[in-house]
Amino acid sequence: MAQLWGGRFTKETDKLVYNFNASISFDQKFYEQDIRGSKAHVAMLARQGILTAEEKDQIEAGLDGILADVRSGKLEITSEYEDIHSFVEANLIDRIGDAGKKLHTGRSRNDQVALDMKLYVRDEIDETDELVKKLLEALQKIMEENVHTYMPGFTHLQKAQPVTLAHHVGAYFEMFVRDRSRLADIRKRMNTCPLGAGALAGTTYPLDREYTAQLLGFDGPTRNSMDSVSDRDYVIELLSAFSTIMMHMSRFCEEIIMWNSNEYRFVEIDDAYSTGSSIMPQKKNPDIAELVRGKTGRVYGALTSILTTMKGIPLAYNKDMQEDKELTFDAIDTVKGCLALFTGMISTMQFNKQNMEASAKNGFTNATDAADYLVNHGVPFRDAHGIVGRLVLTCIDKGISLDELPLEEYKAISPVFENDIYEAISMKTCVEKRMTIGAPGPDVMEKVIAENKKYLEEN
Ligand code: ARG
Repeated sequence: MAQLWGGRFTKETDKLVYNFNASISFDQKFYEQDIRGSKAHVAMLARQGILTAEEKDQIEAGLDGILADVRSGKLEITSEYEDIHSFVEANLIDRIGDAGKKLHTGRSRNDQVALDMKLYVRDEIDETDELVKKLLEALQKIMEENVHTYMPGFTHLQKAQPVTLAHHVGAYFEMFVRDRSRLADIRKRMNTCPLGAGALAGTTYPLDREYTAQLLGFDGPTRNSMDSVSDRDYVIELLSAFSTIMMHMSRFCEEIIMWNSNEYRFVEIDDAYSTGSSIMPQKKNPDIAELVRGKTGRVYGALTSILTTMKGIPLAYNKDMQEDKELTFDAIDTVKGCLALFTGMISTMQFNKQNMEASAKNGFTNATDAADYLVNHGVPFRDAHGIVGRLVLTCIDKGISLDELPLEEYKAISPVFENDIYEAISMKTCVEKRMTIGAPGPDVMEKVIAENKKYLEEN
């Protein structure tokens, strides 16, 4: 048990207490960030004349050595240390002796851990953003290829009006663009450096916090030392943005699971992304989509957890905050894993375009267009709605679609109908006439696709 704080104690810590208190089993995840922060701190201390240039060089070389050895596996991070900060400091002192004991000058583990967590979260925001971008590129490809792929659009899970696959997928494109902008917002808001806040009240050493902040790529130092060591808002915001990303993937997964079912047959998930049953030889299950949907709950759980942990904590640092890590790390791994797999699944999935179009035709998705036909011939919309409702009933009775109903039947209910009704309610017309901004018409869709392309090039 290697501890940094033995001085005022007369007894060894109870083993169970030590284990309960220790965070090394999980905070070792940010050893890179911890060392990056220490190097910046030391560079600043030397610049301020608090350390000599020689001490700085020694400490830097020692830290670089630790980093290289941990990366290569030569140096193992073990539970003998309380946390990653203790591990690095103890190893440094082992390597370089007395100079190593000066590393922690003007610093507390409270501002150190606040820094490490911010650096870690910031790095992970960047990596997650890359993955969301890859997902957007996969969606864009599906959109480009399916401007004329007709399918039913649903409300209440009832067939409503015809749309295209490009349009449907385009809805998800919008969601994931918003997700990226949420990540960017968080990154910007959190990008202030807590190092130099000390335990809670700053320090009497003449630290140059602007300089440390600059070295670590922050926009500047945090403005209040008590807030600096006790702020975990950015973790809450991250987990909230992650929850939304998961929610978006989960909704799409739910659709894919339905579309992949024997009843819909809109898509076929690639063999590489499906699994079988141990008993039923015919089965090909959409497990990946189900797992992404399921893991959404886990990420929501992390958000609820951190909100609950933070709710009653008085200023400034309290050990409760150590609980921010495991759940955040788990959520990060979950979201990144899900994004990569989800992107792989949708890029390899086959769309059964004929089934999609047939489904749109058989579900009276063109009934609104039949009513609009009457309106265009002077019938008030409410009357037109009633007339088409009766036509639909007739079709249901005969087991046919509106396209298949003979003209006499149309005329029997309203003499306004002429032969051009069939063209007016064809899938092609129904979709292509929807040309308002945001609608599925191919001209507007092509515009959206061009804008998406520009967005992907520029962001
Ligand atoms: N392991 C702690 C955490 O994760 C950081 C160390 C601060 N510890 C302390 N006793 N002040 O929050």
